[in-house]
Amino acid sequence: QIGKVGTVVGCDTSSCGACTILLDGRSAKSCSVLAVQADGSSVTTIEGLAGDEWHPVQAAFKECHGLQCGYCTPGMVMSAVDLLSENPNPTEAEIREGLEGNLCRCTGYHNIVKSVALAAETMKGGK
Ligand code: FES
Ligand code: FES
Repeated sequence: QIGKVGTVVGCDTSSCGACTILLDGRSAKSCSVLAVQADGSSVTTIEGLAGDEWHPVQAAFKECHGLQCGYCTPGMVMSAVDLLSENPNPTEAEIREGLEGNLCRCTGYHNIVKSVALAAETMKGGK
């Protein structure tokens, strides 16, 4: 109804993470949030992430080929943004743990993890 198509539904049962958005800056699986629960909150979808340039997480996914079909990507990116806001210097294990609620049916996890690690490096450099 509001013309936003970036956030996708994968399972509608809180299992896949494809629908992840930021609710007051924290990642949330939007399929399990009623509109009334978000009343008065800030909601950021993938469309709201980039400014004049890609967000560093988006740029890193592009650089590291962190997507194949792209269906999981909006949710992966939003979860990664939350992860890096909590832990700007994650280990590979911490990245994998941070993204464990997001499934990629193309199984491109290796490059997704590399993307998040690159984004962390980029953001540390203030880019
Ligand atoms: Fe799969 Fe929301 S659509 S967790
Ligand atoms: Fe296809 Fe993740 S890139 S589901």
